[in-house]
Amino acid sequence: MWKIVLSLLQLQLLVAPPAASCPIFLTISLAGKTLTEACLEVNWGPDCFAPPEWVGIYRQDPSVSNFQPELRIDGIRNRTGKRQTPIKLGKLHFPGGWNRPQAEQTTATKYPKGKCLPYYVASYNGSELLTIDCLKIQPNWLAHLKDAANMPLKRLFLPGTHASGAYITNYSKTKSLLVKDYLVAQHFDVWSQLVFGIRYLDLSVGYRNMDSSNEADNFWVVNENMFINPLSDVLRDVRRFVELSNELVVLDFSSFPIGFYKHPEIYSGVYHLLRQELGDVLYERNVSLSEHCADRSFNDLRAVNRQVLLLFPTEELPYPENESVLLCSSWQRFSTSYMNISQTLDYMRLLFSKKPDSPVQDDGWIFLAVKSIEQALNNHKLQTAKERAALINPKVNQWLNGPWGINANVVAMDYFSNTNLIDVAIHVNVHKAFLAANDKFINLEILSRR
Ligand SMILES: *[C@@H]1O[C@H](CO)[C@@H](O)[C@H](O)[C@H]1NC(C)=O
Ligand SMILES: *[C@@H]1O[C@H](CO)[C@@H](O)[C@H](O)[C@H]1NC(C)=O
Ligand SMILES: *[C@@H]1O[C@H](CO)[C@@H](O)[C@H](O)[C@H]1NC(C)=O
Ligand SMILES: *[C@@H]1O[C@H](CO)[C@@H](O)[C@H](O)[C@H]1NC(C)=O
Ligand SMILES: *[C@@H]1O[C@H](CO)[C@@H](O)[C@H](O)[C@H]1NC(C)=O
Ligand SMILES: *[C@@H]1O[C@H](CO)[C@@H](O)[C@H](O)[C@H]1NC(C)=O
Repeated sequence: MWKIVLSLLQLQLLVAPPAASCPIFLTISLAGKTLTEACLEVNWGPDCFAPPEWVGIYRQDPSVSNFQPELRIDGIRNRTGKRQTPIKLGKLHFPGGWNRPQAEQTTATKYPKGKCLPYYVASYNGSELLTIDCLKIQPNWLAHLKDAANMPLKRLFLPGTHASGAYITNYSKTKSLLVKDYLVAQHFDVWSQLVFGIRYLDLSVGYRNMDSSNEADNFWVVNENMFINPLSDVLRDVRRFVELSNELVVLDFSSFPIGFYKHPEIYSGVYHLLRQELGDVLYERNVSLSEHCADRSFNDLRAVNRQVLLLFPTEELPYPENESVLLCSSWQRFSTSYMNISQTLDYMRLLFSKKPDSPVQDDGWIFLAVKSIEQALNNHKLQTAKERAALINPKVNQWLNGPWGINANVVAMDYFSNTNLIDVAIHVNVHKAFLAANDKFINLEILSRR
């Protein structure tokens, strides 16, 4: 009995951290053209019950010394909101050896609790410091959550990106407005996404014969039927990140829209490229057990030192029997592509409440919080990819902060950087691991209705 009371007390502390009277965090706006021109945004909520008198933005940690803020914001009133600031992001440098490694780099500083980039936000009543947060990289967050490491992957909340390889690194080199405004789906390259804390990547692959002696040159990341980046660049980033961080990455080959149809030998070709680039970091399934990869835990993958889980439509391969050891079958996907905001809310209620009529089965599943170009067209206005993400991301982020987050598995977005999705996922995983460790004592139903 005392154990129950104690557990509930601890849980209460986890659910309602002491600083939660008005959570305040920084994100990167989707307004600017390029990443360096993008501005910082201040966000508050959900449920800002006791608003601070003022909020300051700093380039140095304001808890260390009395720095003057770069910007002061007054008059935060609503329970939830965001405000764009005129402070530009500029060129980002990652500390501790987390910039993309140029040569053979074998170590980087471990940041189990994340590491702030020089952008801080603090809230105050008068001179009393209430909260402090920062833009941060979280390259080691999963390894740090000891209790979550034994949970099946289908029980973890993994923050992800949609169209993960659809980024451009040099805006002036990319001439096409179509690509820049409509087909690019991420501010950051795959390396940076993973350093920020993303652990699920979604890739569409196309094939184009480039007349190259290297077969790898023929495979491209595509979005909406345009070739965006060479696939091997993405694979190299994933491999180097896993080697440097020992974290887990779920790599989902979700579609093959160009050049693959009725060409099993091209599927074989991409499989060979994957084996060549990632072979010794790819998790090997036990085929004789016909195991579901989502039942494995992070510790299972760590134990064999193979920390990339590859989701791939095995049935497309000409010889699935001998080619499928390294491949996990696809997880269920649910997308909001063709929905407006109120439909998205209803859909999330259906998926995340885990009621008996929910289509989510007891396996890995991916919630794609995205709006398609077509849906935006229905509004008689062609919204850019950033405009679409600017509308949907903050809403979904806010809804996941509530009780639904506890049932999330993979949540993937375009331009995730206008949310604090990664912090939300980490927080929920701590909570989930606590519940899993105490499920003998706590009735989940009661708590999820809190
Ligand atoms: C800050 O002060 C305001 C009134 O000035 C008050 O409503 C609010 O509760 C205070 N917040 C905290 C966290 O003390
Ligand atoms: C609060 O929200 C309302 C409606 O959502 C909006 O009109 C108003 O401008 C907001 N106020 C502030 C201070 O953000
Ligand atoms: C971007 O592309 C332009 C035009 O091709 C080139 O002049 C410039 O050096 C490139 N910048 C970087 C950082 O690679
Ligand atoms: C796969 O599972 C079977 C049945 O449990 C077991 O005998 C075999 O050793 C496993 N193979 C591998 C590679 O782990
Ligand atoms: C699978 O088996 C087929 C036929 O036996 C063979 O042609 C092919 O090369 C094998 N593939 C691999 C990856 O071993
Ligand atoms: C969303 O779409 C539904 C069905 O088409 C429609 O009934 C509803 O009014 C729309 N809601 C908004 C806010 O546009």
